[in-house]
Amino acid sequence: MILVLLGSPGAGKGTQAAMLKEKYNLKHISTGNLLREEIAKKTPLGLRLKVVLDNGGLAPDEVAVQLVQKVFEDEEHGIILDGFPRTIRQAIELDKMLDSLGEKLAAVIEINLEDDVIIKRLSARRLCRGCGSIFNINSEEVGEKCKKCGGQIYTRDDDTPEAVKHRIEIFKTEAVPLWYYYRGKPFYKRINGDKTPEAVFKEITDFIDGQK
Ligand code: AP5
Ligand code: MG
Repeated sequence: MILVLLGSPGAGKGTQAAMLKEKYNLKHISTGNLLREEIAKKTPLGLRLKVVLDNGGLAPDEVAVQLVQKVFEDEEHGIILDGFPRTIRQAIELDKMLDSLGEKLAAVIEINLEDDVIIKRLSARRLCRGCGSIFNINSEEVGEKCKKCGGQIYTRDDDTPEAVKHRIEIFKTEAVPLWYYYRGKPFYKRINGDKTPEAVFKEITDFIDGQK
């Protein structure tokens, strides 16, 4: 099964992917996480990407496409693509990858939020360096150590108010063409992310299960 999760910054793609991965036994591939791993390695490419991502900009299409191609080559089980495709060019490249593997998309879910909710959520997001868990200080107690694995808690470098503003602007520019690309397809669903994580999860899984 190949699922795609699209949507605005902070819409809950990572939160939902963590739940969907358990339910459907899928591998979670976030291009944002893969790009941050490249940055952490401090390779020449990583150093260039850091400047772009910290400012809330998009990585070049060919970099994102290559990261996903590599995963498709190595992965025999199902995949959740979180944050890919993000442009029409990426959507076309994804279709080519699927064609060459004889695969089809099970669902493309777009989760959206109003700007004020995005800003509120992202200024309160905290993550774990150990297990990657995502928390929010507005809805739970988050200390310096992760309550699941004891790992160090941190704030993302692109969760600054300026970078979040830029990410929202870019999302709005890219989301419309992508919507034109997927709208009308039976496997495409748009969801309002301003509900509890459980309510969003139910809406997503009801849709996926209804597709089978
Ligand atoms: P990426 O890491 O994908 O960032 P994003 O799209 O901005 O989305 P986020 O990860 O910030 O939010 P999310 O939707 O995962 O929300 P989360 O579950 O964490 O990409 C980062 C950057 O990499 C991009 O800006 C771009 O530069 C680059 N990039 C990535 N992919 C690329 C590509 N394909 N091509 C080119 N460049 C690319 O939740 C957010 C917060 O809300 C958390 O605190 C969470 O606890 C909380 N929360 C979640 N759900 C709920 C809920 N239902 N109710 C209340 N709180 C909730
Ligand atoms: Mg995410």
